[in-house]
Amino acid sequence: MATKIILDCDPGHDDAVAILLALGAPAHIEVLGLTVVGGNVSLQGTVTNALRVLMLANREEVAVYAGCPRPLVREMVTAEHVHGESGLDTASGELLAVPKTTAREKHAVNYIIDTIRQSESKSVTLVATGPLTNVAAAFAMAPDIVDELKQLVIMGGAFHEPGNITPAAEFNIYVDPHAARSVFESGAAITVFGFDITHQMRITPARLKSIQNNAGRTGKVVADFLDFFNQYDMSKYGWDGAPLHDPCTVAWLIDPTLFEGSQMAVTVDTTDGPNFGRTVADWYAVTEQKPNALVISHGDSDRFFELIIKRLATL
Ligand code: RIB
Ligand code: CA
Repeated sequence: MATKIILDCDPGHDDAVAILLALGAPAHIEVLGLTVVGGNVSLQGTVTNALRVLMLANREEVAVYAGCPRPLVREMVTAEHVHGESGLDTASGELLAVPKTTAREKHAVNYIIDTIRQSESKSVTLVATGPLTNVAAAFAMAPDIVDELKQLVIMGGAFHEPGNITPAAEFNIYVDPHAARSVFESGAAITVFGFDITHQMRITPARLKSIQNNAGRTGKVVADFLDFFNQYDMSKYGWDGAPLHDPCTVAWLIDPTLFEGSQMAVTVDTTDGPNFGRTVADWYAVTEQKPNALVISHGDSDRFFELIIKRLATL
């Protein structure tokens, strides 16, 4: 039976591929709706991009819900330097078509709460590929949903790898560390994909070419925007491709054999200073802290990209 998901995202190039991968695997994933948060760019931009991606996939019937435009406590931080002004800039300069659809009236946080409450217990999986503001707000407004949720799959954090927005912090956590801390302390069944695994999933030139040539109707458009996405990270890190972070969450739901991890205690540093937004994992269980997350650390990057290309080719 397909896994029912709500995908909370901040599209964003890698969020866009996560959305397309989920839509391209109907035997494994049923997308109940997209909830959107401010992150890579402003909420207005991330909502527009979510609608753009659904239009690209010819799936405009999928509902989009706008959520929190800013973090719970700190000031907003965005990442136009990585994703471009639109949040989904392309190498060709030709942006995805302006969407004809709009977000639904209901707020994303209310949609998350209502959907989980109205669904069979432990039947809904929440996937979060942006800052965790919507998720934290939903858990604070309706603590009962934490135990009703099947699981929460997060792209965020950096454990052995350095941060990308500060030396210590990964962007999704850094934008709203207070939200992230409350989510990791919520008791939800969490699986987390941090940089230790996503940095292994790089969009090399060969993989980009394969997406362009073998991923069907959407392949050329996806390759065009990933070509743009590659530029910042390749120049910053000197790598052979940018890490394709967000689709790791959906790929794991489709084929868990792609990845390996361990249960461990994860905490989020919300103290002012150089470690603000840092995620710390008790890798060797040296504290008394109870493990609160499955931390993914290894994966098969070739099979990961093969899955993405195969599923996008069906759209
Ligand atoms: O740090 C990478 C993460 O932040 C990804 O989810 C990217 O889309 C941004 O949201
Ligand atoms: Ca994201």
